[in-house]
Amino acid sequence: MVPQRQALLTGATGFIASHLLPALLADGWSVRACGRRPRPDWFPAEVDYRSVDLTRPEELEGLYDGVTHLFHLAGASSSTSTEEEMHRANVVATRNLVAGAPAELERVVHMSSTSVYGEEVQLPVPVPEDVVPSPSRGYGKAKWATEQEVWARGESGLPVVVLRPVSVFGPGNVKLLGSAVLDVALERWAGLDTVAVHARPVEQRMVHVDDLVAASLHLATHEGAAGHAYNVVAEEYPSSHAVTGILADAFGMGMTLADDPECGLGYEARASAHTQMLEQGMAPHILLTRQRFRFMGKTNRNNRLRLDALLSTGFRFTHGDLEPAIRSTIDWYREHHWVITR
Ligand SMILES: NC(=O)c1ccc[n+]([C@@H]2O[C@H](COP(=O)([O-])OP(=O)(O)OC[C@H]3O[C@@H](n4cnc5c(N)ncnc54)[C@H](OP(=O)(O)O)[C@@H]3O)[C@@H](O)[C@H]2O)c1
Repeated sequence: MVPQRQALLTGATGFIASHLLPALLADGWSVRACGRRPRPDWFPAEVDYRSVDLTRPEELEGLYDGVTHLFHLAGASSSTSTEEEMHRANVVATRNLVAGAPAELERVVHMSSTSVYGEEVQLPVPVPEDVVPSPSRGYGKAKWATEQEVWARGESGLPVVVLRPVSVFGPGNVKLLGSAVLDVALERWAGLDTVAVHARPVEQRMVHVDDLVAASLHLATHEGAAGHAYNVVAEEYPSSHAVTGILADAFGMGMTLADDPECGLGYEARASAHTQMLEQGMAPHILLTRQRFRFMGKTNRNNRLRLDALLSTGFRFTHGDLEPAIRSTIDWYREHHWVITR
């Protein structure tokens, strides 16, 4: 008989966990899930949900009862949080969470980020996981400090695995690629037939959420994974032009290269189209960013990442071909009215 595995899933109300939770259940795990908000309606009845603010140690009472594996996804990013909030939701929350972790846990799977490497100090490229990171922005600094909280418990015997994904996309994503899809939908709504993108291409790095979920499950049980960090990135690195071309085509638009980095519809015009689309029934979930194509504009001297560690565990990507994965994500947004067209 397969021994019963009980997961404690933090950040359960977030984007990545909305895919990991069903995958755990489908794999036969018992799941205790927690987020701060009240229990979401879509959670299956068998999920033991706790509404917990991890920055408040008194709320963690009994959280680990019966738990064999911790999947720690709770955190905050710069898309919606200040530096202070990022510190609290990442570093303080994780310190509290791992302080109470029982020594008998079979695995601690911590969701970090490749932002820990930073963009300014040149690291060996492709970046290996054992490099000394040099995070350059608030989010990367918070995620790196958070990792230290987890590794410290690893040194005292907990079997810790750290995943470092790049920008994650897929159904339900409200930021990053999701916001870029919204930007193109707004321009289509406003009557444009061509999407302008800055002529200087910027190399992107992305991973589909299903691949990240599969890697999380794989590393949660893979013998020998404990004590290691793993970059998680699709092997293909598309340019900003290639990604914009896919988005434009999905909305029946052409693409043009512009000398102006601020090209395209300005924020006020996008916000106005956004208001109209919401009035016409568009769901309000995707984040409208002041900066158009926010996630595609940043160059990064450390963009390429080594994948040998993950691949040597036998893991294989199923959404390595990004174009169909991006197209099917856009289809999902349209089917669920997260973006609409006239
Ligand atoms: N999405 C990406 O592209 C990406 C890339 C690399 C790494 N990551 C990392 O992956 C993890 C999950 O990302 P995501 O995009 O799924 O996040 P998300 O959608 O923003 O969800 C964040 C989750 O964390 C919970 N949370 C935040 N502060 C908390 C606190 N003080 N106490 C308890 N729960 C708290 C939220 O709960 P409520 O909403 O209920 O308050 C929510 O469930 C994060 O650690 C993130 O840094 C994400």
